[in-house]
Amino acid sequence: MKEFLVRENRILSALLEVSKVLNSSFDLDKNLFRTMHVLGEFLEMERGSVFLLDQNTKELRIVAAHGLTKDQIEKGKYKIGEGIVGRVLERGSPMIIPDVGEEPLFLNKTGSRMSRSGISFLCVPIKFKGESIGVLSADKIFRDKTILIDEDVRVLEIVASIIAQYVILWKHYRESEQEREHLRLELKGKYSLPNIIGNSDKMQEVFESVYRVANSKATVLLYGESGTGKELIAKAIHYMSPRSKEPFIKFNCASIPEGLLESELFGHEKGAFTGAIVTRKGRFELANSGTILLDEIGDLPVTLQPKILRVLQEKEFERVGGEKTIKVDVRLIAATSRNLEELVLKGKFREDLYYRLNVVPIFMPALRERKEDILPLTEHFLNRFNEENRKAISISPKALKILAGYNWPGNVRELENAIERIVVMSNGKSIEPVDLPLNLKVHSSRDILHKESLSSGIEEMERSSILHALEETGWIQAKAARILGITSRQIGYKMKKYAITSSQAV
Ligand SMILES: Nc1ncnc2c1ncn2[C@@H]1O[C@H](COP(=O)(O)OP(=O)(O)OP(=O)(O)O)[C@@H](O)[C@H]1O
Ligand SMILES: [Mg+2]
Repeated sequence: MKEFLVRENRILSALLEVSKVLNSSFDLDKNLFRTMHVLGEFLEMERGSVFLLDQNTKELRIVAAHGLTKDQIEKGKYKIGEGIVGRVLERGSPMIIPDVGEEPLFLNKTGSRMSRSGISFLCVPIKFKGESIGVLSADKIFRDKTILIDEDVRVLEIVASIIAQYVILWKHYRESEQEREHLRLELKGKYSLPNIIGNSDKMQEVFESVYRVANSKATVLLYGESGTGKELIAKAIHYMSPRSKEPFIKFNCASIPEGLLESELFGHEKGAFTGAIVTRKGRFELANSGTILLDEIGDLPVTLQPKILRVLQEKEFERVGGEKTIKVDVRLIAATSRNLEELVLKGKFREDLYYRLNVVPIFMPALRERKEDILPLTEHFLNRFNEENRKAISISPKALKILAGYNWPGNVRELENAIERIVVMSNGKSIEPVDLPLNLKVHSSRDILHKESLSSGIEEMERSSILHALEETGWIQAKAARILGITSRQIGYKMKKYAITSSQAV
């Protein structure tokens, strides 16, 4: 009796150990090997082997074995129906060879059993949903042929069924891994630029142009609304070009009065005008052998345009008040949020300069035209500002939905600023709709207010945007209604619905 209990205990411990091992990870070879080791340790089963059917070759191959050398494992291959292992797979039921020494079917392919007497060979199918996917086998050294063999087979069958589950899970896992790897490789072919987010087709086109022009000295003209990333792309072109170690100089043509522009761009000699007490280099000289970004080129006065054209074509100019001709080698990137062609038609921009600049035009899409980039951009900025502020704030799906639905007139810069402000101000763990800037919520609730079926989440959002709008306008309902894009009558109704009263004013 005592011996029976000890044995029972061992079996349970073995099964527990097997399930622990197979629950630990998806390292198939390692875990099946450890499982075979458990069989040896707890149940005195030697040379435990797992064979799996290779669906391509229709061959059974050892994937894990305990007590066999690599060479022996290599040799252990069976066709369906071949030998005992092959038959067990074919029939889907266990086979026991009480004494391998007496059994002609026993092929001993691995050559691992020097002496074949005194060994029972136990072999059970590994089945999933009634179909054999492999075979589990083990040797049992017997002292008395009749003792407990049935029980050993039962235990092996349980182990085989745990292995079956594991192998199926592993196959799914491997397939999804392969899919991921495949996707990764596919994506690798795509363009990427450090710290610039843009998976949308429109941004991918931009990236492609960047790659194409970076190596040349071609003039690039960046079109795009404010905040779309024109400067970012100009820098990317510079840092990917052979000029990357040379200066990158940026100048906004709309930033200073017309009278000062020429000297800013081309420098001046001492005494050129009142206040010119020293000789000063202009931006073109500072950018020599590097790149200059002329932002808002559409604001360049017509009087200055010939001088820019000359730098581009002859690579030379004179400082204001100077006679000496200065030679420079500068790559020009121009950016504009205005329609240059229209300016040309109106006579405000020289046609020859326009064509000289427009060698490679790149169009930066507005963020609302590539809404799929909103999420990755949000993540990107969230990571950055979390890091800068030593916070770990995440964003709730509801809040993300509002971000994704907003039309972002200020483009990426507006999104960047919004996220920074939220991260800096937030004390919580997660960004909720109430934490979002007012204009965002107002915008998104404008559409929502007219929809009849409001889920509780949306109702909460609606309630809070009405409250915010009222607070913003000092509780003047007509003004609040205007912000929200609804009528005074509607806001009155909504306030009643949500029981909003001015006593809630903070
Ligand atoms: N694709 C992007 N990925 C990551 N950050 C971006 C991206 N596009 C823009 N940004 C960020 O948004 C901000 C605005 O970009 P940038 O200054 O390049 O825009 P711009 O088109 O030059 O705007 P403006 O016309 O107002 O000068 C910057 O802080 C920039 O880092
Ligand atoms: Mg800019």
